[in-house]
Formats: sequence, C-alpha cells, structure tokens
Amino acid sequence: MQEKYHIVTYGCQMNVHESEKIAGILRSLGYEETPTKENADIIVFNTCCIRENAENHAFGNIGALKKLKKENPKLLIAVGGCMTQEKGKTDILKKKFPFIDIMFGTLNLEELGNLILRKKAQKKKVIEIREKEGEIIEFTDAYRTSYPNAWVNIMYGCNNFCSYCIVPYVRGRERSRKPENIINEVKALVKEGYKEITLLGQNVNSYGADGVDFAGLLDAVASIEGEFRLRFMTSHPKDFNEEVVKVMQKHRKICRLVHLPVQSGSNDILKAMNRRYTREKYLDEIKMLKSRLPEAEVTTDIIVGFPGETEEDYLATEALVKEVDFASAFTFVYSPRQGTKAAEMENRVPESVQKERIMRLVELVNSLTRKKSEKYVGKTVEILCEDYDEKKNLYLGRDEFGRMGYFSSENNLVGELVKVKITRANGISLFGELVND
Ligand code: 5AD
Ligand code: SF4
Repeated sequence: MQEKYHIVTYGCQMNVHESEKIAGILRSLGYEETPTKENADIIVFNTCCIRENAENHAFGNIGALKKLKKENPKLLIAVGGCMTQEKGKTDILKKKFPFIDIMFGTLNLEELGNLILRKKAQKKKVIEIREKEGEIIEFTDAYRTSYPNAWVNIMYGCNNFCSYCIVPYVRGRERSRKPENIINEVKALVKEGYKEITLLGQNVNSYGADGVDFAGLLDAVASIEGEFRLRFMTSHPKDFNEEVVKVMQKHRKICRLVHLPVQSGSNDILKAMNRRYTREKYLDEIKMLKSRLPEAEVTTDIIVGFPGETEEDYLATEALVKEVDFASAFTFVYSPRQGTKAAEMENRVPESVQKERIMRLVELVNSLTRKKSEKYVGKTVEILCEDYDEKKNLYLGRDEFGRMGYFSSENNLVGELVKVKITRANGISLFGELVND
C-alpha cells in the first residue's frame, strides 16, 4: 500500500507555497496525500515564528502527536519552517518533543527527501538546519494546492531588519531568482491553466537580478500571453515607486491592489521600528498610486502596542487608517521576538493597553470594510471562481481587490472568470447572482 503524508502549515503565503514544495518532495518519494493525521505515515509541520501565538499553536499541535506516535511507532514526524531556523529552537523542540524524527529548516527545504531516506535507514533522529543561506535552488516540482492561483517566488529572505521582525534572522539575506526562471515558470503555469499568478517576496520592490528590477520583472511577467490575473506581495513603502505603478497602468492583467504594510501612523514609532519611511512619505505614495490609478485599493498590516507607543501615537495610526481608507488591514498586537532589537526595548506597553487598542483598531477597520462592502451592492464585478462552499451550497471567488464573493451556479465554475451582480453584503463577504453576457 502507498504510504501517506499529511502536512500542517502555519503562517504566510511563503509557507503555504513551501508546503506545496514539501508535498512535491513527498510525492517524488512515492507518498500520497491524506487529509487526516491518524492514517498518515509521515506528518510534516511547516512552522511559523512571526508572533508568539503562531509558535504556541505549533507547540500545542506537535505535542498532541505523542499519542499517535505511541500507537504507531513507525509514524515519521518531521518539523521544518521558520521555527527550526530560530537560534536554540531545535534544542527546545528536541527536549520537549523527543519523538520528532526529522528537523529541517527553510534554508535547506530541498534536502527533505534525503533526510527522510536517511531517517528510514537509521534509528537516530535526523536534524539538519543550515545557518547561512546558499545559492537559490530552482524547484520545479511543487505540488500545487491553490488552483486557480499559483504562488511564484521571485525572491527569498529580507535585508531590512525592522526592529520587531524575526524574518531576516530565520530566512537569511535577500536573494532574487533569475528573471528567466521566473518567466519560464509563469509561462508554464499559464499554459497549465492557472488563472492567477501571485509573485511572492518579503520585499518585492527590492527584487534585482541580471540587471532587471521589480518594475522590469513585473512588466515582463505581465507581457506573457494568456488570460490570467497578476498579483504581487509584499511591497515595502520605503521602496515602492512610480515605475511599478506605471507598469500597472500598462497592463490590465495586474490587479489594482497593492499590499503596502504601514505598521504605524506615528513617525516616532516608525523610526523605532526601523521602517525607514515617514507617515508623509507613505501618504504621498498612496496619492501617487491613486493619481495614476484612481480605482486602486490598498491593503496593509498594522502593529499596535509596539514599545513606547503612546495614546497619541496610536491615534495617529487611527487617523492614517481613516485617511487612506484601506480595503482591508491585518492588525496585530506587538509580540516580542527573541534576538530582535525591539525585544530589548524597555518601554513595553502593558498588555491591557495593547488589548484595548487592538479592539478599537479592529472595530475601525471593520467599519471601513463594511462601508466598502455596502458600496458594492448593485454593482457587477468580475470574480475568479476559486472554490465551492458545501455548507453554503455556493461557489466563491475574489474580485481583483481581493473581495470574496459568493454566488450559486448549476455548473462547476472553479477556475473561470465570471461576472456577478452583487445583491447583498455581509461584513467582508459579498453575495450575488451570476450575470450571463
Ligand atoms: N509582532 C507583531 N506583529 C508582527 N509582524 C511581524 N513581526 C511582528 C511582531 N514581532 C507583522 C507585521 C508584518 C506581518 C507579516 O506581521 O505587521 O507586516
Ligand atoms: Fe520583517 Fe521588515 Fe523584512 Fe517585512 S521588511 S520581513 S517586516 S524585516
């Protein structure tokens, strides 16, 4: 009987795509997927360490495997992702969970197949974490699970060292893939029928390889023939520029949505975060974007309760949120990460104040989102159908601004661009009827 794998993924799109690469490796070894842990022969945890609660989740779920491992000693348990790249974390994992068989990092993901074979040939656990990033390994056989969207890495790592962020420590310095490899990958995906391509990087605006910058790459990818939507994330406000927006204007394929994390609306906090832009520069970029593309929408990430954040600083964030009128915002409470500059800062904001601020901010963001949803009612939008929701008995998909829309259909429309007339809005979700043209 064919052996089975089960992958548990935490964190961002980068991790979601890396799990697709892990699945590709497992399939090349002859494993097939199983949706449950109970009948798996290998369980792989792809972890995240961006905030403490991401780690706690993983810890809890890895711990819960003890019983399964006892019942089935042949079960292999592998742990990879950002957490294993953290200094000292593998020792903690080893101590806490002696039943883990394999540990690997983000910087040697491609070795997982060999590590599994090594583990199968020996009793001892296999722990292999690379400390420094090496050359980019081109990866061709990811097993993609997010059709009709396909994630495409354009670069890895980050050089920015925002003072709160652990990413540069666990993913190494920036490395950009060759434009030729990216273009060939996208061409193949479009040929295979993928309808949405999302270019991924921690800071896509600092992409650079073979003399091609991000604007050049975006232009080249958007020039690929075929029907597909093009997205990119994440942009950094210190590097986002007019050249990129000009390329967006040139190609209708590029969604009019920019994910531009602002983190805070206060210049003092931005400085302490080492973000290297001001509130004014951020607002100028939004103005520039909207002057060239009036219909463009912006989404963002915001951290509240960063060390030293006063009520005034927080209110500056609220004011900025109102001024920009974000399509949506991911909001986080600051979480100290060991090894980062901010974790050493003494002027911590009390937890009760952090909680109170995040609640106010979430309420504000939700009210803006609701208002935007209401404006949709009566309009016809183009939705890329992504899935079918069994509970609701409705198909669902997103418009170019990332808004989720539900509609009913007799036929399977997954992977198709359809027109939907919005009849009702419920919070962030839209509901409508198919329009036949
Ligand atoms: N605490 C809280 N939020 C964080 N982020 C990154 N590091 C931290 C941290 N230590 C948030 C930022 C980033 C998003 C991916 O996660 O807003 O843009
Ligand atoms: Fe972290 Fe800043 Fe790099 Fe984003 S740009 S990954 S927040 S260090």
